[in-house]
Amino acid sequence: MTDLDLSGKKVLVTGGAGFVGSNVTERAVRAGAEVTVVDDLFTGSLDNIDDDVKYRFVEGSVCDEKLISGLVREADFVVHMAARNIIVSTKNPRNDYEVNIGGTLNVLMAAREFGIKRIVYTSSASVYGNPRIIPIVEEERTHTFSPYSVSKLAGENYCNAFYESYGVPVTAVRYSNVYGPKQDPKNPYCGVISKFIEAIDNDIAPQIHGDGNQTRDYTYVDDAVDATLTALLSPKSEGTVFNLGTGTETTVVELLDILASLFGKEVTPEHIDRRDIDNIRRRVLNIERIRSRLRWQPQIGMKEGLRRTVEWYLSRKK
Ligand SMILES: NC(=O)c1ccc[n+]([C@@H]2O[C@H](COP(=O)([O-])OP(=O)(O)OC[C@H]3O[C@@H](n4cnc5c(N)ncnc54)[C@H](O)[C@@H]3O)[C@@H](O)[C@H]2O)c1
Repeated sequence: MTDLDLSGKKVLVTGGAGFVGSNVTERAVRAGAEVTVVDDLFTGSLDNIDDDVKYRFVEGSVCDEKLISGLVREADFVVHMAARNIIVSTKNPRNDYEVNIGGTLNVLMAAREFGIKRIVYTSSASVYGNPRIIPIVEEERTHTFSPYSVSKLAGENYCNAFYESYGVPVTAVRYSNVYGPKQDPKNPYCGVISKFIEAIDNDIAPQIHGDGNQTRDYTYVDDAVDATLTALLSPKSEGTVFNLGTGTETTVVELLDILASLFGKEVTPEHIDRRDIDNIRRRVLNIERIRSRLRWQPQIGMKEGLRRTVEWYLSRKK
């Protein structure tokens, strides 16, 4: 892990009670920051944040312009993560539009008015759609297949526009399939990994949408947090978009095999129809830009990340 010093820095984390956000909050507090979390608890929960972590919580929406304006005014740094996720947004594109685009605009407008040291916007590798070349470089053309990828890219474009037009110091990181502790399998919107873990643990056949040969670049949450906070502090990240992944491609079948071996069980999956959000066949990111510019690289490989995730899952059952 990078040695991060956030002593005395005031950090606003929007969506800070969510899966990645709660991990960011904990790490920032432990690195010395005074953290304020704003979250409407739509998918997030305060239970995600460890009891020994001291932070200020404000329940509210990024769509509340006045609230966000006041919170940004008090902050030095903003990690803007509040968003409706891909499943919610596919069902309700208008709500996605209001939160993911409108909420981002509220953060940027306040930052323009009051000044801020840095905003990190958490974008998504879903903006690439089905890429032409793998591993995907940041210059790859974007291709938005889902309302979610439209809104995440729109937020990113607003960040770029506010940097170019008004000098608002923003950085965007494009996350790729982040997984790890606090990703709750009981949440209907959770990712494939936590669903597989729960199924294997309960001796239920894990469901694979399609043939299982679709690939993703799975990123362990501590690595994603580390890179996000490194980008928040680095002068070299201003005005830049970074891929944030591992550079390693894993199929869903391979993922299931590793999990089955961690549980020491024979697992036979059930193949079911692909969903309307499963329209991306292969995805793996080229991470040279973040590696060379921010000197960041992932530390946790797939097996170790999954081992830690399973350990966390089993510890919660006790
Ligand atoms: N997890 C991934 O693999 C992944 C991949 C790409 C991008 N991202 C991005 O990373 C960020 C965090 O994702 P996550 O996986 O932790 O999701 P999450 O759903 O666990 O976290 C999102 C948080 O935002 C909160 N939120 C939603 N709408 C809000 C609103 N209107 N006002 C205030 N808070 C609101 C939710 O309650 C939740 O706590 C998001 O911006 C997401 O688009 C995540």
